[in-house]
Amino acid sequence: MDRLTTGRSKAPPLIASAVRLHGRTLVTNLTFAIKTARLYSFAHSNVAAALNEFKESLSAFTSQAGSALHLLGMDDSLSLNEVRLKPDFSSAQSFQFILDLLKANDVGELSIQPAVGREELEALVTLFNTHRPNPDEPWTSFAAAAAKLQLPNIGLARTGERKASLLDDKNGRIITMGIYFKTISHVDAVLGAVRSRKPLHFRQLKHAIQTMVDITLCGEHVMLSLANVKGYGEPGSNHAVNVAIFSIALGLKLGLPKKHLGDLGMAALLHDIGKANLPEHLRSVGQHDVPSSDADAYASHVHAGMDALLSEHIAESCVRSINVALLHHYRFDRTGFPRLLTAKEQDLFTRIVAVADFYDNATTPQQPVRPAMEAERVMHSLLDGSGTEFDPIVVKAFVNLMGLYPVGSMVRLNTGELAIVLEPPTNPRFLDRPRIKLLSDSMGNPVEEFANLLDLDSGGRFRRSILKLCQMEQVQLDLGEYLTVI
Ligand SMILES: [Fe+2]
Ligand SMILES: [Fe+2]
Repeated sequence: MDRLTTGRSKAPPLIASAVRLHGRTLVTNLTFAIKTARLYSFAHSNVAAALNEFKESLSAFTSQAGSALHLLGMDDSLSLNEVRLKPDFSSAQSFQFILDLLKANDVGELSIQPAVGREELEALVTLFNTHRPNPDEPWTSFAAAAAKLQLPNIGLARTGERKASLLDDKNGRIITMGIYFKTISHVDAVLGAVRSRKPLHFRQLKHAIQTMVDITLCGEHVMLSLANVKGYGEPGSNHAVNVAIFSIALGLKLGLPKKHLGDLGMAALLHDIGKANLPEHLRSVGQHDVPSSDADAYASHVHAGMDALLSEHIAESCVRSINVALLHHYRFDRTGFPRLLTAKEQDLFTRIVAVADFYDNATTPQQPVRPAMEAERVMHSLLDGSGTEFDPIVVKAFVNLMGLYPVGSMVRLNTGELAIVLEPPTNPRFLDRPRIKLLSDSMGNPVEEFANLLDLDSGGRFRRSILKLCQMEQVQLDLGEYLTVI
């Protein structure tokens, strides 16, 4: 039997940032317990203290999460209950230790129930410390050794068998894409209703946003990779959904709780609702691409947006959407538009949406006026506007979120190969080494395989490094092809 299981929760009840904090503590404590037990017997006070500390951190996590611990090792990252962990400086070595340990035994998942006893933990630690994996069949020998132990509250699964989450499962990605495109069509419907002065129905949008929040809580990169899709649906609808994706991921990064992430997503989706009645050529452009002759007409969309939302009986949770619709072009330094009689501060939702709005507009081609701006240049523009146009804290969080090579972007490697960025780097020491998938070899022949940018050659040098970002148009990947490779 290849799988020894325990029960599983359906979704992480804790917000991702809290899970990540627990994750660092748990991984550090587990490493310490395993390493200490290599030096002393279980009767020794150091080992007892280390095991106690791990058990306490486990209890703290399971009681707050309301579920068992599920630690997953995938490629070069660890996930805890569906949330990909990000080691900090002090926990980086422990992360590597646990990853190596899981990899050596071909273990993809370790689950521990809250009821786990001290003896079981000792047995697990002993198993990891004494079992010598058979290099040809590491899992088979490890599972055989585990089966001889009494581990009713501990589950172990082989690498590759844990594929049921939205993060990894192909079906999960297809569902995510379905939600993405469906949300665009819901926005189309709302904009159409504004134009024809019909009542606005937000129920479907709200439902879609909640699902997007849930997916983002599992790992923001799945949704972020879709935000590279531009110009789908009615003018402005795709932009609204992308801004919602960036805003939710940003809100999560800034530590907003799940309930607020839903409200933020709705506000982001509706931020440009006032553009519904603008001429078509102004609906899909950002502020910086508007010809001066159209500036006044364009600026009117913030009032129109507020009016459209005020005319609806919207739930209290959506009231902040009105603020965002009115003030998303009002700058952090209290200039911009609309002009207010009394200068006021933008609220946090508006400051988040302003950054997301700028990024999506700049990375969207405005044919025939200009191509899409490269992500790197957009980041520099955001940093230039930090403290004047944009809130510096939000800009910093966004730069952190997107990294040097944003998820979904195409990159050329020093080997001549072309690749797509799937996930941000897992190792904070190597921010220029995200998780990638190869799309073509050095001769331009199509391939489709994962490559690890941390792999070394026989001389101890990195086998592959990223040379530069490529524009989607440069590599001539159409929407259909893009969706099959992300
Ligand atoms: Fe706008
Ligand atoms: Fe916008």
